[in-house]
Amino acid sequence: MEIIAIANQKGGVGKTTTAVNLAACLAAKKNNVLLIDLDPQGNATTGTGIEKRELQLTTADILLDGVAIADAIVTSPAGFDVVGANRDMSGIDISLMGLVDSHSLLKQAMQSLTGYDYVIIDCAPSLNLLTVNAMVATQGVIIPMQCEYYALEGLADLSHTIDRLKELNPHLHIRGVVRTLFDARNTLANDVSAELEAYFGDLMYQTIIPRNVRLAEAPAHGMPVLTFERYSKGSRAYQKLASEVMKQSQQLTLDLPKVE
Ligand SMILES: Nc1ncnc2c1ncn2[C@@H]1O[C@H](COP(=O)(O)OP(=O)(O)OP(=O)(O)O)[C@@H](O)[C@H]1O
Ligand SMILES: [Mg+2]
Repeated sequence: MEIIAIANQKGGVGKTTTAVNLAACLAAKKNNVLLIDLDPQGNATTGTGIEKRELQLTTADILLDGVAIADAIVTSPAGFDVVGANRDMSGIDISLMGLVDSHSLLKQAMQSLTGYDYVIIDCAPSLNLLTVNAMVATQGVIIPMQCEYYALEGLADLSHTIDRLKELNPHLHIRGVVRTLFDARNTLANDVSAELEAYFGDLMYQTIIPRNVRLAEAPAHGMPVLTFERYSKGSRAYQKLASEVMKQSQQLTLDLPKVE
């Protein structure tokens, strides 16, 4: 089981769009997928067709009340499993602060999870305790980046946070950086893209997610773009990203030491 957090403290860079569509494309490629929504905005929950206000249990119940993760899993209309979030979760950060092991509650809860090939965690635009819980529970982090000037400014904070959290989670690493909302006609976007390549090197995914209106429309229909407009540019891009992610998984397996 591979755990991947989708994180960037900057808002509106395509974290949720990446989480939902990567989850859907991995599931379409015959993987068992669980998507965990760790953002009180609940966008990933809505994006998979779940009515977030009707959720019986959310990630908050798992973190604060020790509810078993299995009890909070629902099968989304999108066809894969989801642990949802909604506004009931706002303020949870402060409630978490008072708890023992407040940074590793998600990790502890996930220890009982079995049967999934991929667990994808959608993070809020913040480096708060919820995001720290994701970083402690995960192995790899995928960072969606919009190629604009301010993207570069937040990079140092994020890299620093990931480095610091390695004390709590030695497995933590950047799995890859994905360029999102990309407009190839924009000179600045191309310049920033080149800077990101220089900074991250091999950590950049080859797949670039274009700005594509179908990606923005799909959540309003409660669908990943793969179901909404399978052959759109956005859908093709996320299918390609899922293939790249699966190729990384194969590589990881090959890198494991052989048991004699
Ligand atoms: N490639 C894309 N093309 C067009 N629109 C996109 C694309 N990616 C995301 N969007 C739209 O941009 C907005 C922000 O995307 P999204 O919600 O995925 O970002 P986010 O990083 O999760 O935001 P937040 O920080 O608030 O959680 C949404 O309205 C989404 O539909
Ligand atoms: Mg989001």
